[in-house]
Amino acid sequence: MKVTIVGAGAVGASCAEYIAMKNFCSEVVLVDIKEGFAEGKAMDLMQTASLNGFDTKLIGSTNDYTKTANSDLAVITSGIPRKPGMTREELIGINAGIVKEVTENLVKQSPNVIIIVVSNPMDTMAYLVHKTSGLPKERVIGMGGALDSARFKYRLAEALEAPISDVDGMVIAAHSDTGMVPLISKATRNGVPVSEFLDSQKLEYVVNETKVGGATLTKLLGTSAWYAPGAAVSVMVQAIACDQKKMIPCSLLLNGEYGESDICLGVPAIIGKNGVEKIVEIDLSDAEKSEFKAAADAVREVNKDLK
Ligand code: LAC
Repeated sequence: MKVTIVGAGAVGASCAEYIAMKNFCSEVVLVDIKEGFAEGKAMDLMQTASLNGFDTKLIGSTNDYTKTANSDLAVITSGIPRKPGMTREELIGINAGIVKEVTENLVKQSPNVIIIVVSNPMDTMAYLVHKTSGLPKERVIGMGGALDSARFKYRLAEALEAPISDVDGMVIAAHSDTGMVPLISKATRNGVPVSEFLDSQKLEYVVNETKVGGATLTKLLGTSAWYAPGAAVSVMVQAIACDQKKMIPCSLLLNGEYGESDICLGVPAIIGKNGVEKIVEIDLSDAEKSEFKAAADAVREVNKDLK
């Protein structure tokens, strides 16, 4: 399996590192526009191979996409990250042009690639990659739900004073501060609904902190996070590379599922060697349905800016 990661910044490099550490890919190509940067990151990571015990070959390229030819999978992390106080949506002006160009370059070299979109505003960028690439809809996947669900589990474990491995939960809808829908009614500790352990005030805290999970880190770090985004991508890449058929919430082009069409939004899906193998439709409460619809309306407004 050959994987290309475009953008060798913090998120792209973390993706590459986690993928290499898990040792399931033959080759990872890092691409960046900054002269020598991707080559440097790749070399530094290769020098951890004997220490960390992996055989994945990492190479870097300064914007030369011929090095990415015949990639099975590509991850787009390019563009600028948000600064404290910014929303993800404010990045569209700069990132849309970059993501469009990157997509064209990738597809030219790898016409059958599966693309994972990380750049923000992610749901809109995933939609743009669909429109630009012409790839079948199963082959473009936005990374948001895997990350937001990990942040949800972190907050649930904190509120429950439980180890993370006791906790399960999922976040759907948009990858935005207001559009995330953490499915609290379905979250469990060892199969028991979390509402049996946490009162409504604690549950509200968990939901609110999950939604602003990225913003909280941006404030602390001065730029957006990278470890959890990188780890979330690596889980998705592994699900595809190893045909795991894992159920992961991802931003996918909807065609009537959850009552929406012609939009990318976070929904649970089975991820395997073909990319999206199936969108899983689960029962939502009336409140969750209306939150999902509100998120869709907001993303549709942002999508209009693509024109
Ligand atoms: C975050 C970015 C990746 O949520 O959107 O950290």
